Amino acid sequence: MTHILAIDQGTTSSRAILFDAQMKIVGLAQEEFPQHYPDSGWVEHAPANLWDCTLKVCREVLETTGIAATEIAGIGITNQRETTLVWERETGRPIHNAIVWQDRRTAAFCRDWRERGEEEAVIAKTGLIIDPYFSGTKLKWILDNVEGARDRARGGELMFGTVDTWLIWNLTGGRVHATDATNACRTMLYDIHEGRWSSTLCGMLDIPMEMLPEVRDCAADFGTTELLGAPVPILGVAGDQQAATLGQACFAPGMLKSTYGTGCFALMNTGETPVRSTHRLLTTVAYQLDGKPTYALEGSIFIAGAVVQWLRDGLGLIEKASETQGLAEGSDPQQRVIMVPAFTGLGAPYWDPDCRGAVFGLTRSTGPREMARAALESVGYQTRDLLEAMRADWQGEGDAATLRVDGGMSASDWTMQFLADITDAPVDRPEITETTALGVAWLAGMKAGIYPDMEGFAAGWKLERSFSPAMDEAAREAGYGAWRRAVAATRSV
Ligand code: G3P
Repeated sequence: MTHILAIDQGTTSSRAILFDAQMKIVGLAQEEFPQHYPDSGWVEHAPANLWDCTLKVCREVLETTGIAATEIAGIGITNQRETTLVWERETGRPIHNAIVWQDRRTAAFCRDWRERGEEEAVIAKTGLIIDPYFSGTKLKWILDNVEGARDRARGGELMFGTVDTWLIWNLTGGRVHATDATNACRTMLYDIHEGRWSSTLCGMLDIPMEMLPEVRDCAADFGTTELLGAPVPILGVAGDQQAATLGQACFAPGMLKSTYGTGCFALMNTGETPVRSTHRLLTTVAYQLDGKPTYALEGSIFIAGAVVQWLRDGLGLIEKASETQGLAEGSDPQQRVIMVPAFTGLGAPYWDPDCRGAVFGLTRSTGPREMARAALESVGYQTRDLLEAMRADWQGEGDAATLRVDGGMSASDWTMQFLADITDAPVDRPEITETTALGVAWLAGMKAGIYPDMEGFAAGWKLERSFSPAMDEAAREAGYGAWRRAVAATRSV
């Protein structure tokens, strides 16, 4: 058995990526699924869509590559995190649509909760800020709003899971109800210090603990699927941002990566110590191996690549995302247009779910070029916000300087150069930018015994291009100062 099948169940599509014994990608199948927006700020996925399209891409990639299931040593699952599902233990039928991580429906509850002065207790146990982003208040909402749900959950009839758990449950034909520590720690119900579900948090949100999955290591036995033509074990599980941290080989304290997908998520390895942020970052589990958690500081930005999608689908300024780079290059350098893409509020370090977006500095000569540039620059400015917070929080070893990047937007040289300029730090882009899938494939392959250990894997990380800061300090600080003022003004509206 020489191959590993990585499943990447993301916010807008499911992908199945097949890796060979040398960890090279030999096949990829992808399918988008519908997004549901039942109300302002609400985002849902149909659980059946998530499962059906995942199984479909798995079968497709085996078919197109001609690799039989008997040649697969293991499956790794990585997934959009925090998205919340509840289903019946007996039938596997969901009782509500999945509430997606972007969904803001519990903003008012979170505000009240924070105002009751309970945030400190939540941060101390979970490492998370009180925000609708995490699963806990979404799960509470389902139990509050689906008739009889809480009683049924108390009676053991209902199961909760994040997307990994939902896929494991379905892949194993309902035999395994489990998650891994990186997904568990995003629920707001998990004590990251004790490494178990928190009865205090479950009590605060009135969540019956009977419905919670078992928490395992990232490289562990998650059961076997019989749905691909031969029994294949599931051996690796990690939330997508943690999987990317592994794929980028950020194994030493102080190493950090930033992934530019729909949003942008920067994680810095802090080793065995869960560092408490004093700058509104999250403390999270980066990975857990052999029962030992390694922690990270995380900065989460909700809109990165999505701002380019908005230029395309919302404004119709471009036809393809890749056009933004050319437009930005041709923009008028004298104009300072600042875009604050707070379409679904602001994440770290502001955590303002009610804030909405704004554009500043428009003149009669502002056009698509300047708008494109402002959109790309907003990603750099937001990343600088995160890095400033991280460096202020981090007193440990490692310089926390070089940023390893991946995700769709990292392909744009212009954007990566601006990122290096505005953060005044080197930006390293690896040869393989499919780091999320690679990370979880490595977990499964290592567990199966066909991939190298951590050291061997880290030695295989290869740089494709490094971007060095080239902007002078005055220009850099003038730009960043304008961004900070723009954010403040946006939040005051
Ligand atoms: O926390 C949300 C994150 O896991 C979503 O990632 O890549 O599906 O946008 P992505």
